[in-house]
Amino acid sequence: MDKPRNKEEVVERYSRVFPRASRVTYAPIVGVRARNAMVWDIEGREYIDFLSDAAVQNVGHNNPKVVRAVKEQVEELMHFTFIYGFPVEPLLLAEKLAEIAPMEGVKVSLGMTGSDANDGAIKFARAYTRRRTILSYLRSYYGSTYGAMSVTGLDFEIRSKVGELSDVHYIPYPNCYRCPFGKEPKSCRMECVEYLKEKFEGEVYAGGVAALFAEPIQGDAGMVVPPEDYFKRVKRILDEHGILLVVDEVQSGMGRTGKWFAIEHFGVEPDIITLAKPLGGGLPISAIIGRAEVMDSLPPLGHAFTLSGNPVASRAALAVIEEIEEKELLRRAEKLGKYTKKRLEKMKEEHELIGDVRGLGLMLGIDLVKDRETKERAYEEARKVVWRAYELGLILAFLQGNVLRIQPPLTIEEELLDEGLDRLERAITDVEEGKVPDSVLAKVQGW
Ligand SMILES: Cc1ncc(COP(=O)(O)O)c(C=O)c1O
Repeated sequence: MDKPRNKEEVVERYSRVFPRASRVTYAPIVGVRARNAMVWDIEGREYIDFLSDAAVQNVGHNNPKVVRAVKEQVEELMHFTFIYGFPVEPLLLAEKLAEIAPMEGVKVSLGMTGSDANDGAIKFARAYTRRRTILSYLRSYYGSTYGAMSVTGLDFEIRSKVGELSDVHYIPYPNCYRCPFGKEPKSCRMECVEYLKEKFEGEVYAGGVAALFAEPIQGDAGMVVPPEDYFKRVKRILDEHGILLVVDEVQSGMGRTGKWFAIEHFGVEPDIITLAKPLGGGLPISAIIGRAEVMDSLPPLGHAFTLSGNPVASRAALAVIEEIEEKELLRRAEKLGKYTKKRLEKMKEEHELIGDVRGLGLMLGIDLVKDRETKERAYEEARKVVWRAYELGLILAFLQGNVLRIQPPLTIEEELLDEGLDRLERAITDVEEGKVPDSVLAKVQGW
């Protein structure tokens, strides 16, 4: 096969060989080289990456420490199956994950991607509690394998086409900007917590519930941050009924919000944490970290993969953790997050299109609205902003159709962050001034 020569050829050949089920695109960026927060495409154009490669590049693209670790490990041992053998690298990684986890006495199961970690969490929770029902949240996203897809609170005709796991129930996520109960933060009685109690009064038998699956900040729902004491209140109810709390940190973990794990902002100890995306610095690796007795509830091969615990991916993950520690990236995420949020809030003062700015650390969202009173989602405008940003050299995406996703690497240089924010504001201004034609709408797919 000939190597493609330009962007158009790549896009065309993609459409011939990849099914649409494997992808969802925003802009035709054919990345061929990347360093920290910069990406270069096949035509030599450069972009600032405000998406961190879908929240993967917390320590920056091609982080030199990670690259070095991978090169060294590739020379020594590419693979030695963890199922039958005893490779050392996954051992070191699991021990390190146990050290940084916000719970005591944990064991770690390794996999390849966020979806398989969430599938495993369903199995561990069901096996430990000997219960079947899983509670989850509307608009949540846990991944694409059968289990993860089934606890996901979104359906784009997928589940109706292929079926799903049974015994999953959904509750509304606490959302103070778009309260599902029509309340305002100042006057609400935490109806979102009351709803869970009511759910157990007849609709769902609490004694049959294995776990509640929660993202500590709902990422793909549009960076929704719950009220500070929400999880404490929920955990009390779960504890009353012996229900486990499974926290998905696939997107929010590894320092993204200014702490190793976003759940640490909320003062509760989960029973299980799932991790992936940024863990391997770009290599596929996932982890389930859970209380030892929960993780010991499945028999041998209960959750095992030939390629899990891969030595190269494990070394990469260890390097990511070391980099976060050595460069003090938790502190940096908090500092840059505060700075970025301030700039976004300033933009909100000047742009009617911005209805809300929210998030923690460098996990931020800009909710675009047609009208600040009605909060009607500005779907078309979001697509136009993302397209215009692409034209200006900024990689951006939206979630739920209208929430811009601001998740640069935690290592982004301050000048580049500023330049990215300038480009973002220019894109918003251009859309507000009608400078981006409707014809671009057909070019942006997104979700
Ligand atoms: C919160 C969350 N969980 C799980 C997943 C699925 O991870 P993966 O795509 O690595 O399977 C994602 C991916 O977007 C996610 O954002």
